[in-house]
Amino acid sequence: MRYAQITGWGKYAPPLLMTNDDMAKIVDTSDEWIYSRSGIRQRHYSHVSTGEMAWLSAERALAAAGVDAEEIDLVILGSTTPEEICPNTASYIKNQLGATKAAAFDLNSACTSWFYALNSATDMIKSGSINKALVIGAERISLAMDWNKRESCFLFGDGAGAVVIEASGQESGLLAGKMSCVPNSRECLHLPNWGMSPAHLTDDIFISLNFEGQEIFKSAVKGMSDAITDVLEKQGLTPDDIDLFVPHQANIRIIQTLAKRLDFPMEKVVVAIDEYANTSAASIPLALCDALEEGRVKPGMTILTATFGAGLTCGAGIIKWGERVEPIGESDKSIPEFDGTVFDLMKDSFTHYGVDATHLLSKGKL
Ligand SMILES: CC(C)(COP(=O)(O)OP(=O)(O)OC[C@H]1O[C@@H](n2cnc3c(N)ncnc32)[C@H](O)[C@@H]1OP(=O)(O)O)[C@@H](O)C(=O)NCCC(=O)NCCS
Repeated sequence: MRYAQITGWGKYAPPLLMTNDDMAKIVDTSDEWIYSRSGIRQRHYSHVSTGEMAWLSAERALAAAGVDAEEIDLVILGSTTPEEICPNTASYIKNQLGATKAAAFDLNSACTSWFYALNSATDMIKSGSINKALVIGAERISLAMDWNKRESCFLFGDGAGAVVIEASGQESGLLAGKMSCVPNSRECLHLPNWGMSPAHLTDDIFISLNFEGQEIFKSAVKGMSDAITDVLEKQGLTPDDIDLFVPHQANIRIIQTLAKRLDFPMEKVVVAIDEYANTSAASIPLALCDALEEGRVKPGMTILTATFGAGLTCGAGIIKWGERVEPIGESDKSIPEFDGTVFDLMKDSFTHYGVDATHLLSKGKL
């Protein structure tokens, strides 16, 4: 029997932070309101593209796995925010890595993209069509934040996380996966004008997230619960058999509601939303990397993951960890830092959305 073991992991969290207090300087909100409604304290905003963030997280994952880029058969980028639709961003990452023989494609199912990609690549390894894959989730979603919408602009952050998966005879990796899509829930989370639409031929492109928070909340909890039930049944497991739960990080209250439904203690849940906010496709690999760094992942653990995103796509998986929880090596690659503050970084975005933030900019950035 072939399995697809996770042998390497890596992340890139951009260094510039937009804290809730920073946000309250631009939007009518407060740290207290945001934290109590969502569990978010801050978000990382990127000065580089989705492709660059994804590339560095992939370099780090390869080093952790002790695998050369030339050995990789497939690079999948899960993302909603590639800088271009054509050519795909995975081919940029492949070239930057020197993954000469790898096939490359992007996969977009919104926040579930990394999980959908992991499930797809795992099945390809299990079927024997490939041996080694890089599965990356990366988003630069800060540029789509409409500062006039206080109900949604605080929710998202940027980042990237990647794993290397390799064919193995040992029972490990994603043992059971469920991908689903809740019927008739497309409109509750929508980025109009993000892509090719006839409107682009006539209008200026203006991206602004449409968002029905409570509708998403309900559909997400139901969709993830159903997917979790499915994978637990497939593996003949109950929640008691799960050692660690790494859910999509969209809202702490969604995570808590889900844990309660499963009768699952919060001590076994990985929570990273306070640090990163919702990084969409990057959220689960970022949380997984942090759990590994913190020593929370132990050899042979049974890990549950669950996710949802625009569409409304959902998913859940049971991952059996291998023996190694330490990286084999570390990458010496890096991205030069941005010369300025997070407000300087977002200068053009403030102008685009008609927000006057000139008083917040560093001298010389005006
Ligand atoms: C967005 C979310 C945090 C809002 O929480 P909520 O408890 O539903 O809050 P509501 O939308 O009911 O808003 C309550 C009040 O706060 C106000 N409010 C909204 N945003 C605010 C902000 N940033 N700061 C202060 N007040 C705000 C609203 O205007 C409303 O005021 P009113 O009662 O006077 O009308 C929550 O619905 C959520 O997280 N949903 C899921 C979102 C998600 O996961 N999206 C990603 C999908 S991958």
